[in-house]
Amino acid sequence: MPQESSAAQPSGTQLDSWLGSYAERTAGMRTSEIRALFSVASRPEVVSLAGGMPNLDALPLNVVAELNRDLVLESGDTALQYCSGQGIVKLREQILDVMRLEGIEAHPDDVVVTTGSQQAIDLVTRVFINPGDVIIAEGPSYVGALGVFSQYQAEVVHIQMDADGIVPELLEEKLENLKQAGKPVKLLYTVPNFHNPAGVTLSLERRPRILEIAKRYGVLVLEDNPYGLLGFDQEPMPALRSMDEDGVVYLGSFSKTFAPGYRVGWAVAPHAVREKLVIASEATILSPSAYSQMAVSSYLENADWKAQIQSFRNMYQGRRDAMIQALSDRLPQLSWNVPNGGFYVWVTLPEGLDSKAMLPRAVTQRVAYVPGTGFYSDDNGHRNMRLSFCYPTPERIAEGIRRLSNVISGEMDLIEIFGSSSSPASRTRGVQSPTPDLF
Ligand SMILES: Cc1ncc(COP(=O)(O)O)c(C=O)c1O
Repeated sequence: MPQESSAAQPSGTQLDSWLGSYAERTAGMRTSEIRALFSVASRPEVVSLAGGMPNLDALPLNVVAELNRDLVLESGDTALQYCSGQGIVKLREQILDVMRLEGIEAHPDDVVVTTGSQQAIDLVTRVFINPGDVIIAEGPSYVGALGVFSQYQAEVVHIQMDADGIVPELLEEKLENLKQAGKPVKLLYTVPNFHNPAGVTLSLERRPRILEIAKRYGVLVLEDNPYGLLGFDQEPMPALRSMDEDGVVYLGSFSKTFAPGYRVGWAVAPHAVREKLVIASEATILSPSAYSQMAVSSYLENADWKAQIQSFRNMYQGRRDAMIQALSDRLPQLSWNVPNGGFYVWVTLPEGLDSKAMLPRAVTQRVAYVPGTGFYSDDNGHRNMRLSFCYPTPERIAEGIRRLSNVISGEMDLIEIFGSSSSPASRTRGVQSPTPDLF
């Protein structure tokens, strides 16, 4: 029986015998057409400036191997067992030491260990969002969060940034307009440091102003901060959570400062919220991996993790420099920001070019990037692309930008002859799920 409901219909094909049975929330689950392209892009001959994977070459794998061996031999009975749904106490205490670097004072009880901060985004959304609730997110915004918001049927309203992050006046105006329109805004989702994908950092001066506006409008701030300790020549900024205990849920991760394979992240939340997060997490995964938590804990206890972060910072800074140099040399007709940390450069193409339409041509020329459209829940981003400098060596980055400059010159020639390069097929709306290695 075809359904009469006016609500969003599940997506799928008539060849799927279960098409009529899916929950409405699956309407937000679409496979991206760029997924197929990226299976080609991961071939070694392609320079991928697409992925947000940390470069683990800088990790002393022999030290990590030894710690893992000792863990199994000395504490295997606990490490290979289930554990508390909130996470093991020792790691929660160590997480407090990590967060102190960004001015956060908290209690181990405030911390919920999660399977990467990605799971924490899911838990917070599950606990707060009814279908149709509004989440304000920076435009552009982290693709993995947009995917979660879409699955919970949230309405994402983007807020523009400038070089200093979210503009407080624009936030206030947006909240006021949504209030007048009778739309409940539940969350402000923000990546305040070395933004993915925009590369910008919310200025110190704006931080208390953003918090004050959110509080006035009764909006909880979801502060997602995987990159805060990866600044190049600046010390970590005070976290939003360090300025407001009750109005912020803070998310942290060991993925970019240690290794994503352990899948250890965490949330810090006000007491009542934290309880709900733990119950929601237990319902999904029973407990986070005891093995991963104990491995991370042992690393924090026995290795010089601060020196390791410093060596990551130096390596990524060198790669950032290589990318900016190559862009200046080869593509002066583009504009971009110069991030002072993190993994990403956000590029704006000249008028008439469409990054999504251009991607197949780029992959044919053996270079890959992520089109800007992936980072918006509306139809923005066609003239943008995210370039990641975290994974390839400086030499590969230079080669990748050289190939990209050939692609762009070809597109410019086409525009001169035929007009805009954008194709109607590239103008599909909505959040699509890319492959995890693009996050
Ligand atoms: C802004 C942001 N939030 C969350 C995540 C997810 O990280 P995790 O590996 O901790 O799940 C990423 C990963 O790239 C990210 O860039």
